[in-house]
Amino acid sequence: MPVITSIDDLKRLHKRRTPKMFYDYCESGSWTEQTFRDNESDFDKIRLRQRIAVDMTNRTTASTLIGQDVTMPLALAPVGLTGMQRADGEIKAARAAEKFGVPFTLSTMSICSIEDVAEHTEKPFWFQLYVMRDEEYVDNIIERAKRAGCSALVLTLDLQILGQRHKDLKNGLTAPPKMTPPVIADLATKWRWGIEMLQTKRRSFGNIVGHAKGVDNMNSLSSWTAEQFDPRLDWDTVRKLKEKWGGKLILKGILDVEDAKMAAEVGADAIIVSNHGGRQLDGALSSIRMLPSIVRAVGDKVEIHLDSGIRSGQDMLKALAMGAKGVMIGRAYIHGLGAMGEEGVTKALEVIHRELDITMALCGRRDVNTFDRDMVLVPEDFEGRWA
Ligand code: GLV
Repeated sequence: MPVITSIDDLKRLHKRRTPKMFYDYCESGSWTEQTFRDNESDFDKIRLRQRIAVDMTNRTTASTLIGQDVTMPLALAPVGLTGMQRADGEIKAARAAEKFGVPFTLSTMSICSIEDVAEHTEKPFWFQLYVMRDEEYVDNIIERAKRAGCSALVLTLDLQILGQRHKDLKNGLTAPPKMTPPVIADLATKWRWGIEMLQTKRRSFGNIVGHAKGVDNMNSLSSWTAEQFDPRLDWDTVRKLKEKWGGKLILKGILDVEDAKMAAEVGADAIIVSNHGGRQLDGALSSIRMLPSIVRAVGDKVEIHLDSGIRSGQDMLKALAMGAKGVMIGRAYIHGLGAMGEEGVTKALEVIHRELDITMALCGRRDVNTFDRDMVLVPEDFEGRWA
């Protein structure tokens, strides 16, 4: 058993053990990947304030997200095709999250269905919705999420059209993969992945197959997003969906102060400051750079979460110190899943939790709920002057 000390260790194993097309799907941004890179490198520009001679006993990372108790203020982000990183991946990740005491978010584009995940878990999870042209399908999936007891709807607002990720096109990404000569050659070295996949029946989009009408090419993410996703999605639709859902609503993909104000006005319970992990609008600013202005604008009106770029407990601490109430991780837990299945997701959560706990102690804090801007050193020009 390899000694895992960081998310990078899990990432290396993920790459070694998972078919290239799925590893690449996870580890890519759109076009030049500038925003994808900035999401991580902008965290590196922020430094921590070391404080000493502070009692470090009785530390706690326990908090709440949208009123729900959590072991630390972090949730697993919705990630498409998670069940292709490892057989039954969504069930494995959801189980690791519930044991650890953090929310799991199931993507509309998951391999395991809402019902599958509900059947294999005990605690409620969050459900992420992509709005489709087919209104009946949307109504139906909202009902399915209600029936499954989902405790929040995470509505993604930055992907009515899929950003172009070059690697996915070059690899011919499909779920399940087509058995072309390069794929067969790749799978020859990833035999454990293949054996597990042969043993599960969950190998295509579980929330769509048998539920959506008129999807021509079910295996291809890019063609069915182009055919099915509703490009007309606007704030009126958001209001209507809020009514239909009737429960906790989290709006994901907010990266602009004006949009954050609209989201607060609509009455969202939380917003997620996010650029979709750099997978949509390449050239947009990183989430952590946009966070301070959004906190200033709506921090007293709506709970603010942040995703895109969190790879460690230090990153998490920085986001919380700069005003986020919680964070989401996507790639960081997918690396764990691809590396070691459910155990790997647990490992990813343990790594980040430990980093958070020790870092906060060395910054002179004992309680994650007391974090503030005094804990970090931010370059004066960090937010930048953009005209
Ligand atoms: C879907 O959410 C994607 O980013 O591929």
